[in-house]
This record gives sequence, structure tokens and C-alpha cells, in this order.
Amino acid sequence: VGDLTAADLKGKKVFVRADLNVPLDDNQNITDDTRIRAAIPTIKHLISNGAKVILSSHLGRPKGVTPKFSLAPLVPRLSELLGIQVVKADDCIGPEVEKLVASLPDGGVLLLENVRFYKEEEKNEPEFAKKLASLADLYVNDAFGTAHRAHASTEGVTKFLKPSVSGFLLQKELDYLVGAVSTPKRPFAAIVGGSKVSSKIGVIESLLEKCDILLLGGGMIFTFYKAQGLPVGSSLVEEDKLGLATSLLEKAKAKGVSLLLPSDVIIADKFAPDANSKTVPASAIPDGWMGLDIGPESVKTFSEALGTTQTVIWNGPMGVFEFDKFAVGTEAWYDALLEARMHIIGKHGELELNPFLQAIAKKLAELSGKGVTTIIGGGDSVAAVEKVGVADVMSHISTGGGASLELLEGKELPGVLALDEVEPVAV
Ligand code: 3PG
Repeated sequence: VGDLTAADLKGKKVFVRADLNVPLDDNQNITDDTRIRAAIPTIKHLISNGAKVILSSHLGRPKGVTPKFSLAPLVPRLSELLGIQVVKADDCIGPEVEKLVASLPDGGVLLLENVRFYKEEEKNEPEFAKKLASLADLYVNDAFGTAHRAHASTEGVTKFLKPSVSGFLLQKELDYLVGAVSTPKRPFAAIVGGSKVSSKIGVIESLLEKCDILLLGGGMIFTFYKAQGLPVGSSLVEEDKLGLATSLLEKAKAKGVSLLLPSDVIIADKFAPDANSKTVPASAIPDGWMGLDIGPESVKTFSEALGTTQTVIWNGPMGVFEFDKFAVGTEAWYDALLEARMHIIGKHGELELNPFLQAIAKKLAELSGKGVTTIIGGGDSVAAVEKVGVADVMSHISTGGGASLELLEGKELPGVLALDEVEPVAV
């Protein structure tokens, strides 16, 4: 069986690895259930075909058994979305789990405890993978967000449990992030943001091979400006990546890709709520001023450039700073940064979300409505389309962070390679 729809599922014990790594607040409330909702179609399909679903996931990065990383808080939401009471195990292997599996009715769902409570999971230890495998008759990987990890429950288990097939979510992610991107309807535009050229080099290089238009945003634009000899004031620049930026610009030219950098920027004289700010052409950032965001002219030019496209992929933040709590350090620092930037950007209109993100999200929604394939992959861009309320109209919103990035860089994911057969199709 290489295909979940064709599998004879009645009465079969199916080990489903999902990525239910959702954010929880201090009271263990789920603050974003996207990943749970994304896992539902596969589980529902298994339930309605009479399978016994053994559901597994990690949550966070626990070191050993850590109550705050238990999957217990997910049970009510999962049960609600599935329309049946999900049973929760206190472990993910062992006699108690085996008993629960044995008493699982056809169409029942057993949620195993966080698989990362065992260090053997991330070490991909065969003995542990074998124990997971021994619980079931069939393996389904639907954990796209974790498919770039060669862990016991994503990779090792497939050596002991056949057939090993992909779930619907994993397949959909591959269809869009590999299929639609490799053989796109043209013109194909890629929008890539990020604060560092270094973290996006792989994605940019890979997309330059495929796209017709490349729009760059985020903090890395200042490295590109400087590489072109423009003044950048005190904006963030990766001095050691100037050569790289130049070679990417040259590569785009050689490939005939229309690479657009923002033509105007919002700048501030310091990074504080009482900063002075203004919009200037990208070529005129004065000494002592730093770029914070792209300006309104650029938003217009970018929107126009997107106007004729048939496929658009958007990866990564467009603002100068990535507001990723985990990436930037302490929470207090994050809050201060956010407040200062929102204040400065707020003077230019929107306070809640930076105007560029909003404008691009709206533009993509409009294109989606006209039948353009729109693919959103990566933190800030996903947050933007959700905030603007247009998430539902996009062709695809990726549930992966690192996994999406690696796919877009053209890498193969161990969790996918381990499956019997998965062929992404262009959509
Ligand atoms: C993610 O949140 O990107 C995935 O769940 C993978 O988590 P990890 O980076 O801790 O492996």
C-alpha cells in the first residue's frame, strides 16, 4: 500500500505521526490550533474507514519527562474537532500503552504522550523506533513540520513498520512546496523576506532557478543596498555577506529573473518609541539613521509586479526585524523592540501589523480570488495572512517552519524519504 486512500484500513492499528507542536500559554491553553486542524483530515479519514488510530507527536523540546510539555491539553480540542472522545495515554511505549491500544475500538483514537520525553526519539534509536512500530500494523506520516528531522517516530519507525505512507497534509505540503514550485504556472513570483542574507541564501539560490520575479524584503535588503554601493546609515548590514549579495544580484541578471528590491524605506534616527522617523528613497538613507521597513512606493511597485503572476510563493518576514520571541532572546527585549517599532511604524498608518505585510497579504488574497496559486510558507507571512483574515482564500499555507525552508532550498526531507513512495504533483 503506497497510498492512504487505497489502504484497507478496517480494524487496522495505524500509527499516525502528526506535528501537534502547538503554542501553549502559561495556563496550558492552546493559542494557535492551526497544526491540530491541519492534522484532522487524515485522522478523520482513518476513523471513518474503521481504523484504530494511534496518534503520536512531539511538543516543544523537553529534556526528559516534563509536565508542561505534556500533550494532555490538546485532548479537548482534538476531541471537539474529531467529534469523538480521544483517549490519552500517559506514555508512548510500554505495557500500559499496549493495553490501551488493545482496547481501542475501530474508529477510536488514542493520543500517545510526547514522544520527545524519551531522548531515544531525537537520537533515532532503533530499539525505541521498534517499540513504537510494534504498536501498529501501518505507519502514516502526516508530520510535515517535523519531516526534516530524522527521529525515531519520523524516520526510524519506517524500518520496522510497513507499509509506511504519507498522510494528506504531508502530501499537500509536498504538492505545493515541491510540485507547484518546480513546475509552476507562469509567471512565477517569489517573495522572500528575512533579516539575514545568510539564512535565506539557500532559498534565494534555489528559487532563482525557478521563478520569473523575485521580490526581496526584510532586514537583508540593507546588505543588498550596500553591495550596490548605496548609503545605508546605521541599518543592519552583514558586512561579510556583501560579496554574496552581489553574486545573487548577478545570478538573477544572468538568469533573466526580475529581482526587485524596495525602492523606498521607512527610517528612524534611533530605535526607541520617541524616535524621529521618515520615508526616504532607498538610495538616500542619511548617516545615523536606520532602515526599519519598506516604504509605500515599494508596496505599490511590489503589488504591481505581482499583478500578472500565476503562481506566488511568500516565505519569510518583510519587516526589518523578525519578531520571533525564540530567535531574538529575552521576552522583555522582544516586548521593548516590538513596542518601539510599532510606535515608529504606527506614525505611518497601521499600528497593529506592519503595512507592508498587510498590503502583500491583501494583494495575494486578491490574486487567489482570480485563480492564481498562492503559497504561504513561514512564520511572519503566515501570521500576516491570518491577521488580515485572508488565510482561507490562499491556495496553501504551510504548517512547517524549518521543514518548509529546507524543501524550498531543494533539500530532501528524511521523514519523506523514509516513506514507501511519495510523488509530489504540481497543482
Ligand atoms: C516546528 O515547530 O518547526 C516543528 O514542530 C519541529 O520542531 P523542532 O524544531 O523542535 O524539531
